[in-house]
Amino acid sequence: MRHLMNPLDFSVEELDRLLDLANDIEKNPEKYAHSCSGKKLATLFYEPSTRTRLSFEAAMLNLGGSVLGFSSADSSSAAKGESVADTIRVISCYADICAMRHPKEGAPLIASMKSRIPVINAGDGGHQHPTQTLTDLLTIRSLKGRLGNFTIGLCGDLKFGRTVHSLIQALIRYPNVSFVLISPEELRIPDNIRDDVLRRNHQQFKEVVRLEDALPELDLLYMTRVQRERFFNEEDYVRMKDFYILDKEKLKLAGPDMMILHPLPRVNEISVEVDDDPRAAYFKQAQYGVYVRMALILTLLGLEGNIC
Ligand code: NCD
Repeated sequence: MRHLMNPLDFSVEELDRLLDLANDIEKNPEKYAHSCSGKKLATLFYEPSTRTRLSFEAAMLNLGGSVLGFSSADSSSAAKGESVADTIRVISCYADICAMRHPKEGAPLIASMKSRIPVINAGDGGHQHPTQTLTDLLTIRSLKGRLGNFTIGLCGDLKFGRTVHSLIQALIRYPNVSFVLISPEELRIPDNIRDDVLRRNHQQFKEVVRLEDALPELDLLYMTRVQRERFFNEEDYVRMKDFYILDKEKLKLAGPDMMILHPLPRVNEISVEVDDDPRAAYFKQAQYGVYVRMALILTLLGLEGNIC
């Protein structure tokens, strides 16, 4: 039985196969419409979510399976003091696979150790968000035509943004990726990513504060929101929240093919006037999230070979 905790849980070859499957699902959805019939997905969300939870649910419904779960800690037995380990033992009796989001780093890993069904980490605190990374890789590969040989700017809250941490770890396995880390001083990438991931693997990267300085050289720009819920005080959040606003004027500095990604939700960091720009790919990215989660469910349930 396999779980997904970290984007590195799949080898590059396994990822290629998963992304190929996601592209086939995109082209031939009817082929997969009943492949999970009789199977159940549990979504255990101890933290708010729109895209991740609903895209998991849409993915399982598209595969002909069913879904059950909860969308906040208050509406689960966590409010009565039940541990994640006990909850997953019980859910293992009710469902075939589960996606868990939790504010505590490592909670899905603890669940996976006690689980009888595959557990997918759907975001644990400021740590990892592997299925967003699968979404990002599928979007980049599908729209840019390649993974590797590009310069990517990651902009915003690089300290608490788990999507950024996971994406960097995943991208260093592809050739010739150069990183521009764009953040205010206080929201710089954590030392463990800078030292243990980027430096240790001899990756090309630089850290800058001004988005304007980075824009001309980027092939991809990955914007993120300031993670309000992980700040210790509201004052710091208010000071940081509008540090970056990508608008039409700033976009004039970027190349004609620079792709703009964002895991969403967006707050103010991308002005709505950018949405109609052909370079804006963040709503397409949300659509790719469904295909890749369908591919992931099939793979973890061992059903990917059964489709004809
Ligand atoms: C991200 C998350 O939850 O980390 N959202 C998502 O899953 N698409 C990004 C965010 O909340 O800022």
